[in-house]
Amino acid sequence: MPSDNSALEEIKSKLDIVEVISEYIPLKRAGQNWRGLCPFHAEKTPSFMVSPSKQIYHCFGCGTGGDIFTFLLKYENLSFQEALNILAEKAGVTLKKFQKNTAKTGEKESILNLHKDALIFYQNSLVKNQKAVRYLADRGINSKAQKLFFVGCAADSWDALFSYLQNKGYKAEEIKKSGLIVRGTKNYYDVFRNRIIFPIFNMRGEVIAFGGRVMDNSMPKYLNSPETPIFNKSRTLYGLSHAKESIKKTGTAVLVEGYLDVITAHMYGFSNTVAPLGTALTQEHGKLIKRFTQEVILVFDGDSAGINAAKNGIGVLVEVGLNIRVLPLPDGEDPDSYLRKKGKEAFSDLLEKAVSIVDFFVMHAGRNLQQQENEHLIAREALEVIAMIPDSVLQGHHVRLLSERLRINEHFIREELLKIRKSLRHNKVNAKPSEIQTRLQPTEEVYLLQLLLQCPEKAGEIFNSLSAVDVKGAVTRAIYEKMKTGLVNYNTLLQECNDEEKAFLTELSFKTEFEDPEKILKDCLNRFKSKKQNILLRELQDKIKRAESEKDGASLRALLLEKQRLLKSQ
Ligand code: CTP
Ligand code: MN
Repeated sequence: MPSDNSALEEIKSKLDIVEVISEYIPLKRAGQNWRGLCPFHAEKTPSFMVSPSKQIYHCFGCGTGGDIFTFLLKYENLSFQEALNILAEKAGVTLKKFQKNTAKTGEKESILNLHKDALIFYQNSLVKNQKAVRYLADRGINSKAQKLFFVGCAADSWDALFSYLQNKGYKAEEIKKSGLIVRGTKNYYDVFRNRIIFPIFNMRGEVIAFGGRVMDNSMPKYLNSPETPIFNKSRTLYGLSHAKESIKKTGTAVLVEGYLDVITAHMYGFSNTVAPLGTALTQEHGKLIKRFTQEVILVFDGDSAGINAAKNGIGVLVEVGLNIRVLPLPDGEDPDSYLRKKGKEAFSDLLEKAVSIVDFFVMHAGRNLQQQENEHLIAREALEVIAMIPDSVLQGHHVRLLSERLRINEHFIREELLKIRKSLRHNKVNAKPSEIQTRLQPTEEVYLLQLLLQCPEKAGEIFNSLSAVDVKGAVTRAIYEKMKTGLVNYNTLLQECNDEEKAFLTELSFKTEFEDPEKILKDCLNRFKSKKQNILLRELQDKIKRAESEKDGASLRALLLEKQRLLKSQ
């Protein structure tokens, strides 16, 4: 964390937290505060609160909270330094040199730089590699698409990249952390060898990982970078940095399965296409898309594996509040092969014909069953997904559609839905009480800190009468200690806190102010005093017992006197 807080203060004063957060999630006014669906856990009723007066946010569902810096670095998975740079730019604040390079961000930045160098290396290797050039030509990936997606190749060598990066001055340890080399029995060697390289970018267009495909039928067909400090598969969509503008413009995201599906789709003009990285779809993927649109067309292979994958994907995406339409391709085709065989118009027609999730289930559930069993299964499968739709209007629409398609009275469908929803709620483990942080600490300590924040002018009096060892809660004590060193300003204090402490403070700041702080203070200090005396008394009682059993008359008398004095002072 930068030692100089003035830049932070300046940035905070120039930006409004409601505006900053609204760029990521929709917020609605709720009295003095703003409210929205928490981006850090799955929920259907908004418990994520933003306070413009305190410039903080807090989620009463999952208990996290913080300021604009915390928000950005969590939401975008950034380091503190990266969040600082982005917000500084937004606020028009110039950072001093030393603030741009702290040790904490060193690792991520160095891995990013290393990936940039590796990207250039793989691209340059492609020109020299006849086999790779021919493979790409055979697959119909023209040079424009190759450039757009920075396609490269890894030579048929054990250490081409390793030695290149070493010559550039990177240390083996550093390169290993990037996941691009592994250690064998003796030496390090390149992970990607003799493969076409598809660089993977984050949303800001920085290269964060690579995917590599063999040029023949050997196995494994694809290899991807392992998870690293800069790469998390379940939070990355291939093609998103290229597709995001088009997704915004067209209002729709097309979700396909593979690298080549994305590249070919973009080549044919469907530049709103993205894909996960060979993993199942996650809520994080859904949330990434939701930043640009709510409308998704899920395209998948029409074989049974594809249908099952789609069923799972639909559930996950629906839960984060996306509207899904589904497009099953003819058995054995993927968007890449379909586009090449049938062309742009045919694919465009298919996209137009993408069906609602209800129709998808009607078309694809239990094809071989008896009609009645079949209908039951369809209803069940479809309702399990429909139950997860957070928007009740949209949910109602799907219920009606299902009742129409199956010719089953809507009433029965609703009853079934209710049952499913009940069992879903039952299974939800993350149903937490709304006040998580403050309940875990002793009440008078919570009150005292609340008081300190509400009336900083009382700080001197409080600090004089209460030492930090008398504050017993782990979080409350840590915060009290910090405040005692002079950090009574809410924002500066927040900056010096860890996540748990931040969550505690943000929860605290949504509590209503004390009407009679004088009285609360008096009560609090009394409570502390009597708690302290109780502890002393208990200790004394132990000593008295020991003196009795040891028949130590002199000590016993002294201890009893002390006890009397203590009781009198209460
Ligand atoms: N994938 C992967 N690892 C594998 C196989 C697949 O990560 N061993 C991922 C890749 O992102 C791939 C996607 O899953 O693009 C789809 O795989 P698949 O359908 O097997 O390949 P295609 O994309 O059709 O690849 P191609 O057309 O090159 O055969
Ligand atoms: Mn394919």
